[in-house]
Amino acid sequence: MTQASGTPDVPDMGRRQFMNLLTFGAVTGTALGALYPVVKYFIPPSSGAAGGGVTAKDALGKDVIASAFIDKHAAGDRQLVQGLKGDPTYLVVTEGDALANYGINSVCTHLGCVVPWNASENKFICPCHGSQYDPTGKVVRGPAPLSLALVHTDVTEDDTVALTPWTETDFRTGEAPWWT
Ligand code: FES
Repeated sequence: MTQASGTPDVPDMGRRQFMNLLTFGAVTGTALGALYPVVKYFIPPSSGAAGGGVTAKDALGKDVIASAFIDKHAAGDRQLVQGLKGDPTYLVVTEGDALANYGINSVCTHLGCVVPWNASENKFICPCHGSQYDPTGKVVRGPAPLSLALVHTDVTEDDTVALTPWTETDFRTGEAPWWT
């Protein structure tokens, strides 16, 4: 025999419980609303670049101006700027005196030293344990296990340099980026 349906003791949310929930919701909503400006105050304003990106900054924290940067640097130069998450990142001046559409994160994939560009050797050579990377940041000698991470670079309408995450295939290895 089946149980009768519609029994009066089916658990139901009591009126008191329901009112409690409503009150909780209202109080929480009001509290969050009041907190919003406070929280917002402590979050630094976005630097203006879209898509999770940042504007490249020089050593003094000023925006890098692309045209001035290119004028100042010879073709083939690799110059450090502050990049995504504050990581020191190389902007690359191409042979055509333009900015390459990629930047190279200078943090060594071995133990995290900043890797200097060695123009005479045409390589990045890590001072810590001797890892070497080619001019695009592709690892050519260990102990570093991986190539230097890439970012996208774009010159904006106001002549600054937007750096955005590189999530596509690594053009140096043909593989998915290890850093995403
Ligand atoms: S940290 Fe660069 S080789 Fe070890």
